[in-house]
Amino acid sequence: MEYGPAPESTKEAQAWLEQRGRTFGLFIDNAWSAPGELFASANPADGSKLADLTQATEADVERAVAAARRAQPGWQVLGGHGRARVLYALARLLQKHARLFAVLETLDNGKTIRETRDVDLPLAARHFYYHAGWAQLQAEEFADYRAVGVVGQIVPWNFPLLMLAWKIAPAMAAGNTVVFKPAEFTPLTAMLFAELCVQAGVPAGVVNIVTGDGRVGEAIVKHTGIDKIAFTGSTEVGRAIRIATAGSGKKLSLELGGKSPFIVFEDADLDAAVEGLVDSIWFNQGQVCCAGSRLLVQESVEAKFLAKLRARMDKLTLGSPLDKSIDIGALVDPVQRQRIAGLVESARAEGCTIYQPACELPADGSWFPPTLITGASTTAAVAQAEIFGPVLVAMSFRTPPEAVQLANNTVYGLASCVWTENISLALDVAPQIKAGVVWINTANQFDAACGFGGYRESGFGREGGREGMFEYMTALSEDARPPAPLVEAQAKAKANAHAAAPHDSPFGIDRTAKLYIGGKQARPDGAYSRAIHGANGEFIAEVGEGNRKDIRNAVEAAHKAGGWTKATAHNRAQVLYYIAENLAARGEEFAARIAAMTGAKNPEREVQAAIERLFYYAAWADKYDGQAHQPPMHGITVALNEPVGVIGIVCPNEAPLLGFISLVAPAIALGNRVVVVPSEAHPLSATDLYQVFDTSDLPGGVVNIVTGSADELARTLATHADIDAVWRHDGSAEGCAEVERLSAGTLKRTWVGGAKGRDWYSTAQSGGRAVLAHASQVKNIWIPYGV
Ligand code: NAI
Repeated sequence: MEYGPAPESTKEAQAWLEQRGRTFGLFIDNAWSAPGELFASANPADGSKLADLTQATEADVERAVAAARRAQPGWQVLGGHGRARVLYALARLLQKHARLFAVLETLDNGKTIRETRDVDLPLAARHFYYHAGWAQLQAEEFADYRAVGVVGQIVPWNFPLLMLAWKIAPAMAAGNTVVFKPAEFTPLTAMLFAELCVQAGVPAGVVNIVTGDGRVGEAIVKHTGIDKIAFTGSTEVGRAIRIATAGSGKKLSLELGGKSPFIVFEDADLDAAVEGLVDSIWFNQGQVCCAGSRLLVQESVEAKFLAKLRARMDKLTLGSPLDKSIDIGALVDPVQRQRIAGLVESARAEGCTIYQPACELPADGSWFPPTLITGASTTAAVAQAEIFGPVLVAMSFRTPPEAVQLANNTVYGLASCVWTENISLALDVAPQIKAGVVWINTANQFDAACGFGGYRESGFGREGGREGMFEYMTALSEDARPPAPLVEAQAKAKANAHAAAPHDSPFGIDRTAKLYIGGKQARPDGAYSRAIHGANGEFIAEVGEGNRKDIRNAVEAAHKAGGWTKATAHNRAQVLYYIAENLAARGEEFAARIAAMTGAKNPEREVQAAIERLFYYAAWADKYDGQAHQPPMHGITVALNEPVGVIGIVCPNEAPLLGFISLVAPAIALGNRVVVVPSEAHPLSATDLYQVFDTSDLPGGVVNIVTGSADELARTLATHADIDAVWRHDGSAEGCAEVERLSAGTLKRTWVGGAKGRDWYSTAQSGGRAVLAHASQVKNIWIPYGV
């Protein structure tokens, strides 16, 4: 039976555009500026122009930031309840005008009305409701945090209003004010949203919307009056933003591309999996960062599954996105169409088989049929690059380990789907997939309560859930820092490094401390050492001068120590307690060493504090639990705090023992393995720990220590492809900026202390969930439950 067309009326949306003269200025301080240099936004389904928008200038961005800055204190002072009421009003208004928004979105973006009506709008409204709740509870639930300040937010064109909601709702809830830039292809729903802000009573300056292309984004990113950048878009631009913000002290969250696997095991409900796949790769024409663009199907059911899939593809309808019965709408712009076509053609040229159902493409506009590519090698461009279109690449596997290996075989780690009727298999595979989201027997589910965001080059930071709120807040402990005597200590360290020839150690042992790699003491590769001097300039000992090769060896050892990540939290806690106990047994020795190196008057205090810090993180090891969410659909979502992986740590110079322990203990407590560069000036507290570790059941490779130049070794850590995060806390502002910049290569997570330093003795400043959050990343696993 054929369906007749069921077009949604565009009357209201067209009337709204007409009423606005089809021309928009910028929305700053709750007022519209006069239009400036204009660019057009077109309907991708037929190429017709919808409206002209203003390309904001740097001066415009300046005005928007100034307005946001002025408004921020008042917005904060309004309090959680006041903000909750405004967010609630926005949610209500979005619902009230849902039809207008949905049609406008479909006109501007080309996505089907079915999706804008049933997905984008309800989810956007839900985001405001949910975050009204966090605003209300903020004082209670986030008592130790404050708003970041002014945030710059840049979004792409694939979910224009939904991405706006994902950005603006949490930022507002936490008490921030925003400068928001929609994508140049799809700015119209943001313009309509600006009108809602006025109606909802959003105070002037809290939400400012500037339109334009990447240049406007660049102006926002580099503006010194902005405290945080939140970006969703391509990995390429995300990397550029990481580099541009390095050393600026701006907080940063990046939600980038993906090449998400869709794994079908032989015992899966194949018909359900086919439907899931349709939702996964043909939702929004595949222009979805978490699209299941790589089908991995078990060989035994491959032929059967692909036959079912092709049959289903034949039934997909493509055409006017305003038609309520259409499955596939238009691509956002002809530029995207050309890009996708180019990638598909390259696959054809490489001998892949391309399957496309026979469907007639409309004459005007930008369209691409649903496409299935088989026969691609795992390294082919179509198997690795984000195509961002309705193109699925299918491959097969034989065993579950092979499925996991293929699933993880990209630089990305955004999402994944696992289809099987065997719950043990699903829950065995889920933790092995390096992705921020795992959907079991479902696909592309989103909810404001469930965090979303990537691993690896898919970016960092989360949107939604409790974890998403932290992206828009600063821990109060990060504010009150004592003046740090760091620069002085560093200068002394440098001077000492070039000091005169070593003479006898006051300890009477003229020895060279080696490096500690894989649980064994190791000679430095370069066979060089450096002299370590005491507070009065006297020689104490030599330590190995680690180099690039030593770091490589240490990283390799850390990767081999994967058993630590699988060990129970109880087990990890036991080891931390044991280290504390063994450190206590040798407390006097450690205190004497600290006194000799730093001249500290009361070195026992530092040893005691280090022991207590070990207890502190041992206590946390089995208490930093995740959460179980109950989203409105599909069972439960389990949010787990997973370790980041291998973390490179550059320790502070002051408090050489306590600083080391304060960074290493939280990292290993949560199951990470570390490569540590101890205090450059006073490394001996770390090298003295080797024996403590050896007698504390700490498996080899969990903590690796490379002494030497902090700058040089930090550079190696930041550029190493197999390190997942780098922390630098030695008080070097330039060094920290360099770590942030260099980490952009593989988009490592970073945590840097800058020049401000912190009080290592204070648990408020050097402990707590804020530190644990750096040592973990949240994976949200959607599990069928009661459905
Ligand atoms: P894009 O990353 O260039 O654009 C996203 C947003 O960033 C837009 O608002 C744009 O104006 C802005 N922007 C561009 N250059 C900037 C800069 N230097 N500094 C600050 N902001 C900047 O993405 P584009 O060009 O629209 O799409 C290209 C490809 O990126 C797609 O084919 C797809 O593969 C990927 N992409 C991924 C998305 C995701 O959600 N992961 C979303 C959009 C695109």
